[in-house]
Amino acid sequence: MAAKNFAPLRRKLLHWYDRNKRDLPWRHTKDPYAIWLSETMLQQTQVKTVLRYYEMFLRTFPNVEKLDRARLEKVLRAWSGVGYYRRAENLKKAARQIVRDHAGQLPQEFTSLRRLAGVGDYTAGAIMSIAFGQRYPAVDGNVRRVLSRVLAIGNEIEMQTNARQLVSSSRPGDFNQALIELGATLCSPTAPQCARCPLRTECAAMNCPSDKNNSLGRRRIAFKAVHWPLAIVRQNGKVLLRRRAGDGLMARLWELPGGETDGAKQPLNFLRQELRELAPAVRLRKAIGEIRHSITHRRIRAPIYLFDYPANSKLRLPSKRWHWIDVEKIHGQAISSMTAKAIRLLNPHEKSFL
Ligand code: ADE
Repeated sequence: MAAKNFAPLRRKLLHWYDRNKRDLPWRHTKDPYAIWLSETMLQQTQVKTVLRYYEMFLRTFPNVEKLDRARLEKVLRAWSGVGYYRRAENLKKAARQIVRDHAGQLPQEFTSLRRLAGVGDYTAGAIMSIAFGQRYPAVDGNVRRVLSRVLAIGNEIEMQTNARQLVSSSRPGDFNQALIELGATLCSPTAPQCARCPLRTECAAMNCPSDKNNSLGRRRIAFKAVHWPLAIVRQNGKVLLRRRAGDGLMARLWELPGGETDGAKQPLNFLRQELRELAPAVRLRKAIGEIRHSITHRRIRAPIYLFDYPANSKLRLPSKRWHWIDVEKIHGQAISSMTAKAIRLLNPHEKSFL
């Protein structure tokens, strides 16, 4: 099949990007390390959240060597709030590989980038194009949606072929970011703003909406309702945290004791069971409210209960997974965002009694 003429599409998209792009800090640098970091943070975290952590992380770990030499705990702390901590662990592993195999500089070949921990096709393509100006596509979820609409693409092979042909050779990094930007702003999953789209005259979904591939797909994600009672156990200004297992949801994060239930069990009975290893010293003081939180496809309601661990009771914790932490220092730790929210429910009056 003859290659399509993508020149008008490229021109219109880049023209729109130059006038509408958001002013984001990682768009002011050509430092491959900073671009790798931003793309890793942006994989599963929204721009507005990444903005709160990206520059702070860069100040703490300004280059690959600093990241390689840092303690994992410190890296996880700086990452806390970005979520999906596996990415931070992989960054650190990849920093080791870069120091060992590439003299501390990010490699400029796609295949070498792909060998780094946590670097998939998307991240390698983003680094190659944005940091090194090479003509590689970077297809993430947003770009996949835009391209499947604009080009009426039905399968992954077509997606890869078209994405490769499409990338601008003169400005590959800007072109990839322009596709991402379009997906994040106008070409949204459920309410695309086609009237304002620079590609409306090129777009298959706009122009041939009856074609079965060309749905503007106002897709709804199925959410699961989950109950997740949490216990704030306090003693002498400290609260009790428990570390999650090394795999699965929120791996290795510290969190308040509690957990996911199907709602059939009374929250207090569930928490008493979770705290059984500390019994009988722990005593319920009161319920202090409920928070709402979403993780992946879960819509969580988390009732929060305050428990006292009497000041004169000896602290005998069941295992190394349990830890007392000063409530004033808790927000700097590698804690889950749900735990951070729950701790904010403690009002200053209650804190003074901790
Ligand atoms: N999401 C992934 N990469 C991005 C980038 N470079 N700018 C904005 N959002 C993004």
